[in-house]
Amino acid sequence: MRNIIIAIDGHSSCGKSTLARDLAAALGFGYVDSGAMYRAVTLFFLDHAVNLADEDAVVNALDDILIEFKHADGANRTFLNGQDVEEDIRSMRVSELVSPVAAVPAVRRALVSQQKALGRKGGIVMDGRDIGTVVFPDAELKIFLTAEPDERVRRRQLELREKGVDLSADIVRENLLERDRIDSTRADSPLRKADDAIVIDNTQLTRQEQLELVQGLARAKMTTG
Ligand code: DC
Repeated sequence: MRNIIIAIDGHSSCGKSTLARDLAAALGFGYVDSGAMYRAVTLFFLDHAVNLADEDAVVNALDDILIEFKHADGANRTFLNGQDVEEDIRSMRVSELVSPVAAVPAVRRALVSQQKALGRKGGIVMDGRDIGTVVFPDAELKIFLTAEPDERVRRRQLELREKGVDLSADIVRENLLERDRIDSTRADSPLRKADDAIVIDNTQLTRQEQLELVQGLARAKMTTG
């Protein structure tokens, strides 16, 4: 069996992280949530009032940022400079600024190079927006996940509610669509489907069904080539 790289891209809240996590666990692979890295940078920029328009300030701030992932009780937690920020990076104040931060070329350069290093040995599932196009253009398996907007809003609301955050569907929808707009139209590595990615619409699929579907594709790649 080959230790392949699996890239999962798609719009906000269509279940990329759930699929990536399930798949990594099923295959015994590592999992990297690249969005969490952009969120951690955004949290640091907010807490240190870094001006996005000031390139020197951005580059200096990036030098002061160390992002790590640690696994505890089957869960993946994000650490920023040694501090567990898993909850903070999912907050609305971070969600509202993360797309503008992720559009800054210096930020992308720094994070893409860390992401490439994390995948050097293969045996990894990474989800994001530019994984199949920029981070791992040679990934053996590329998935472009989609789901209908209403379903994405419903899932995101549910996820927030589980964290004790109750927001109206309108507010959640506005944030999702605005992020999609910025992520898809930025000049530097916009969200787009890689030519060789397989499109999966999971609107009507259960978590188990989507896992089985992609696990089958992954195993086929792992036993060939
Ligand atoms: O996957 P997520 O919703 O947690 O990602 C948060 C933001 O980070 C998303 O709106 C765009 C950005 N992002 C990106 O530009 N490139 C990636 N590979 C992953 C995320």
